[in-house]
Amino acid sequence: MPLLPTCPPLLIEEGLFDEICRSLSQSGYAVLPAALPVLISDALMCCLATMEADGFRNAAIGRGVQSQVNTGVRRDEIAWIEAQSHTARLWLEWAERLRLHLNRHLYLGLFSFESHFARYQPGQFYQTHLDAFRGRSNRVVTLLTYLNHDWLKQHGGELLIYPDNRSESPVALGVSVASVLPALGTLVVFLSDRFPHEVLPATRPRLSVAGWFRLNE
Ligand code: OGA
Ligand code: MN
Repeated sequence: MPLLPTCPPLLIEEGLFDEICRSLSQSGYAVLPAALPVLISDALMCCLATMEADGFRNAAIGRGVQSQVNTGVRRDEIAWIEAQSHTARLWLEWAERLRLHLNRHLYLGLFSFESHFARYQPGQFYQTHLDAFRGRSNRVVTLLTYLNHDWLKQHGGELLIYPDNRSESPVALGVSVASVLPALGTLVVFLSDRFPHEVLPATRPRLSVAGWFRLNE
Protein backbone atom coordinates (compact mmCIF):
# COMPACT_ATOMS: atom_id res chain seq x y z
CA MET A 1 0.00 0.00 0.00
CA PRO A 2 1.47 3.42 -0.91
CA LEU A 3 2.40 5.69 1.97
CA LEU A 4 0.24 8.76 2.36
CA PRO A 5 2.25 11.85 1.40
CA THR A 6 0.75 13.94 4.21
CA CYS A 7 -1.22 13.30 7.37
CA PRO A 8 -4.94 13.08 6.50
CA PRO A 9 -6.92 16.06 7.90
CA LEU A 10 -9.04 13.93 10.22
CA LEU A 11 -5.92 12.45 11.86
CA ILE A 12 -4.52 15.96 12.40
CA GLU A 13 -7.85 16.99 13.91
CA GLU A 14 -7.82 13.91 16.17
CA GLY A 15 -4.35 14.95 17.38
CA LEU A 16 -5.53 18.47 18.21
CA PHE A 17 -8.63 17.20 20.03
CA ASP A 18 -6.45 14.73 21.99
CA GLU A 19 -4.17 17.61 23.00
CA ILE A 20 -7.17 19.64 24.22
CA CYS A 21 -8.40 16.64 26.26
CA ARG A 22 -4.96 16.11 27.78
CA SER A 23 -4.65 19.74 28.89
CA LEU A 24 -8.23 19.89 30.17
CA SER A 25 -7.79 16.79 32.31
CA GLN A 26 -4.36 17.88 33.60
CA SER A 27 -5.03 21.53 34.41
CA GLY A 28 -8.61 22.37 33.40
CA TYR A 29 -7.52 24.70 30.61
CA ALA A 30 -5.69 24.63 27.28
CA VAL A 31 -4.02 27.44 25.34
CA LEU A 32 -2.97 26.40 21.83
CA PRO A 33 -1.43 29.00 19.49
CA ALA A 34 -1.94 28.51 15.72
CA ALA A 35 -4.17 25.50 16.36
CA LEU A 36 -7.48 26.21 14.64
CA PRO A 37 -7.36 24.84 11.05
CA VAL A 38 -6.99 27.67 8.52
CA LEU A 39 -10.08 26.39 6.71
CA ILE A 40 -12.15 27.02 9.84
CA SER A 41 -10.75 30.47 10.66
CA ASP A 42 -11.26 31.44 6.98
CA ALA A 43 -14.84 30.20 7.20
CA LEU A 44 -15.40 32.28 10.36
CA MET A 45 -14.03 35.40 8.68
CA CYS A 46 -16.28 34.87 5.63
CA CYS A 47 -19.24 34.27 7.94
CA LEU A 48 -18.48 37.47 9.81
CA ALA A 49 -18.24 39.44 6.57
CA THR A 50 -21.71 38.29 5.50
CA MET A 51 -23.16 39.14 8.94
CA GLU A 52 -21.47 42.54 9.09
CA ALA A 53 -24.30 44.14 7.14
CA ASP A 54 -26.79 43.23 9.90
CA GLY A 55 -24.70 45.01 12.52
CA PHE A 56 -23.69 43.85 15.98
CA ARG A 57 -25.84 44.34 19.06
CA ASN A 58 -24.39 45.62 22.32
CA ALA A 59 -23.16 42.63 24.27
CA ALA A 60 -25.66 41.56 26.90
CA ILE A 61 -24.68 39.83 30.13
CA GLY A 62 -26.74 36.67 30.42
CA ARG A 63 -29.56 35.79 28.05
CA GLY A 64 -33.33 35.90 28.05
CA VAL A 65 -35.01 37.59 31.02
CA GLN A 66 -31.72 37.86 32.90
CA SER A 67 -30.08 39.58 29.99
CA GLN A 68 -28.85 43.09 30.65
CA VAL A 69 -26.35 45.40 29.07
CA ASN A 70 -23.82 46.42 31.69
CA THR A 71 -21.11 48.52 30.14
CA GLY A 72 -19.22 48.79 33.44
CA VAL A 73 -18.34 45.09 33.26
CA ARG A 74 -18.02 44.52 29.55
CA ARG A 75 -17.79 46.68 26.49
CA ASP A 76 -17.95 44.71 23.30
CA GLU A 77 -20.48 43.92 20.63
CA ILE A 78 -21.64 40.41 19.84
CA ALA A 79 -23.42 38.51 17.08
CA TRP A 80 -24.63 34.94 17.60
CA ILE A 81 -23.51 32.34 15.08
CA GLU A 82 -26.44 30.20 13.95
CA ALA A 83 -26.35 27.66 11.11
CA GLN A 84 -27.41 30.37 8.67
CA SER A 85 -24.64 29.91 6.11
CA HIS A 86 -22.27 27.28 4.75
CA THR A 87 -19.36 29.03 6.48
CA ALA A 88 -21.17 29.14 9.85
CA ARG A 89 -21.92 25.44 9.49
CA LEU A 90 -18.23 24.60 8.88
CA TRP A 91 -17.45 26.15 12.30
CA LEU A 92 -20.42 24.54 14.05
CA GLU A 93 -19.57 21.12 12.58
CA TRP A 94 -15.97 21.45 13.75
CA ALA A 95 -17.22 22.32 17.26
CA GLU A 96 -19.62 19.37 17.08
CA ARG A 97 -16.73 16.97 16.35
CA LEU A 98 -14.84 18.47 19.32
CA ARG A 99 -17.95 18.04 21.51
CA LEU A 100 -18.18 14.35 20.61
CA HIS A 101 -14.45 13.91 21.25
CA LEU A 102 -14.68 15.57 24.69
CA ASN A 103 -17.62 13.35 25.60
CA ARG A 104 -15.90 10.20 24.38
CA HIS A 105 -12.63 10.87 26.20
CA LEU A 106 -13.58 12.90 29.26
CA TYR A 107 -17.20 11.72 29.77
CA LEU A 108 -18.42 15.31 30.10
CA GLY A 109 -21.94 14.63 28.81
CA LEU A 110 -21.90 17.83 26.74
CA PHE A 111 -25.22 18.24 24.94
CA SER A 112 -25.08 21.37 22.81
CA PHE A 113 -22.92 24.27 21.64
CA GLU A 114 -23.59 27.99 21.27
CA SER A 115 -21.19 30.66 20.04
CA HIS A 116 -20.93 34.30 19.07
CA PHE A 117 -18.55 36.76 17.49
CA ALA A 118 -17.39 39.53 19.80
CA ARG A 119 -15.85 42.77 18.60
CA TYR A 120 -13.98 44.99 21.06
CA GLN A 121 -13.15 48.48 19.85
CA PRO A 122 -9.84 50.01 20.99
CA GLY A 123 -10.01 50.63 24.75
CA GLN A 124 -12.92 48.23 25.33
CA PHE A 125 -12.56 45.40 27.85
CA TYR A 126 -14.35 42.65 29.77
CA GLN A 127 -13.69 42.65 33.52
CA THR A 128 -12.87 39.48 35.46
CA HIS A 129 -15.79 37.05 35.38
CA LEU A 130 -16.75 33.39 35.29
CA ASP A 131 -18.73 32.06 32.32
CA ALA A 132 -20.77 29.79 34.59
CA PHE A 133 -21.71 29.60 38.24
CA ARG A 134 -21.82 26.23 39.93
CA GLY A 135 -25.36 24.90 40.04
CA ARG A 136 -26.74 27.95 38.24
CA SER A 137 -25.68 27.41 34.67
CA ASN A 138 -25.29 24.61 32.19
CA ARG A 139 -22.22 26.04 30.48
CA VAL A 140 -19.47 23.49 31.10
CA VAL A 141 -16.63 24.14 28.68
CA THR A 142 -15.64 27.51 27.18
CA LEU A 143 -14.01 27.63 23.74
CA LEU A 144 -12.36 30.79 22.43
CA THR A 145 -10.62 31.61 19.19
CA TYR A 146 -9.44 34.81 17.53
CA LEU A 147 -9.60 36.32 14.07
CA ASN A 148 -6.87 38.97 14.29
CA HIS A 149 -4.02 38.93 11.77
CA ASP A 150 -0.56 40.11 12.88
CA TRP A 151 -1.39 40.76 16.53
CA LEU A 152 1.62 42.00 18.47
CA LYS A 153 2.28 42.26 22.22
CA GLN A 154 2.20 46.05 21.95
CA HIS A 155 -1.45 45.86 20.78
CA GLY A 156 -2.53 44.62 24.25
CA GLY A 157 -5.97 42.99 24.37
CA GLU A 158 -4.70 39.95 26.28
CA LEU A 159 -7.05 37.38 27.70
CA LEU A 160 -5.87 36.79 31.28
CA ILE A 161 -6.87 33.50 32.86
CA TYR A 162 -6.74 33.33 36.66
CA PRO A 163 -6.13 30.18 38.74
CA ASP A 164 -8.69 27.41 39.13
CA ASN A 165 -11.04 28.58 41.89
CA ARG A 166 -11.16 25.02 43.30
CA SER A 167 -7.41 24.56 43.41
CA GLU A 168 -6.03 23.49 46.81
CA SER A 169 -2.66 25.16 46.44
CA PRO A 170 -2.38 28.78 47.64
CA VAL A 171 -2.28 31.25 44.78
CA ALA A 172 -0.90 34.75 44.66
CA LEU A 173 -3.79 37.19 44.34
CA GLY A 174 -4.15 38.77 40.93
CA VAL A 175 -1.56 36.55 39.25
CA SER A 176 -2.79 34.89 36.06
CA VAL A 177 -1.97 31.35 34.94
CA ALA A 178 -2.08 32.36 31.29
CA SER A 179 -1.85 35.56 29.29
CA VAL A 180 -3.11 35.02 25.75
CA LEU A 181 -2.63 37.35 22.79
CA PRO A 182 -5.75 37.26 20.59
CA ALA A 183 -3.82 36.08 17.53
CA LEU A 184 -5.43 34.41 14.53
CA GLY A 185 -5.77 30.66 15.05
CA THR A 186 -5.12 30.60 18.80
CA LEU A 187 -7.49 28.28 20.64
CA VAL A 188 -8.37 28.55 24.32
CA VAL A 189 -10.48 25.96 26.12
CA PHE A 190 -11.33 25.90 29.84
CA LEU A 191 -13.87 24.67 32.37
CA SER A 192 -16.47 27.45 32.45
CA ASP A 193 -17.17 27.51 36.21
CA ARG A 194 -13.56 27.16 37.38
CA PHE A 195 -11.45 29.84 35.69
CA PRO A 196 -12.06 33.55 36.22
CA HIS A 197 -10.78 35.51 33.21
CA GLU A 198 -10.74 39.00 31.78
CA VAL A 199 -10.05 40.83 28.53
CA LEU A 200 -7.65 43.78 28.69
CA PRO A 201 -8.15 46.82 26.46
CA ALA A 202 -6.32 46.84 23.14
CA THR A 203 -5.01 49.55 20.87
CA ARG A 204 -6.69 48.09 17.77
CA PRO A 205 -10.08 46.44 17.13
CA ARG A 206 -10.14 42.91 18.57
CA LEU A 207 -12.26 40.11 17.14
CA SER A 208 -12.96 36.91 19.04
CA VAL A 209 -15.29 33.97 18.80
CA ALA A 210 -16.57 32.68 22.15
CA GLY A 211 -18.43 29.40 22.44
CA TRP A 212 -19.82 27.21 25.20
CA PHE A 213 -20.54 23.51 25.36
CA ARG A 214 -23.58 23.01 27.54
CA LEU A 215 -25.43 20.33 29.43
CA ASN A 216 -29.02 19.53 28.55
CA GLU A 217 -31.42 22.07 30.09
C1 OGA B 1 -16.50 36.00 26.95
C2 OGA B 1 -15.03 36.13 27.09
C3 OGA B 1 -12.83 36.33 26.12
C4 OGA B 1 -12.09 36.80 24.89
O1 OGA B 1 -17.05 36.39 25.90
O2 OGA B 1 -17.15 35.51 27.92
O3 OGA B 1 -14.56 35.94 28.18
O4 OGA B 1 -10.86 36.61 24.87
N1 OGA B 1 -14.25 36.39 26.01
O5 OGA B 1 -12.69 37.37 23.99
MN1 MN C 1 -15.90 34.82 29.48
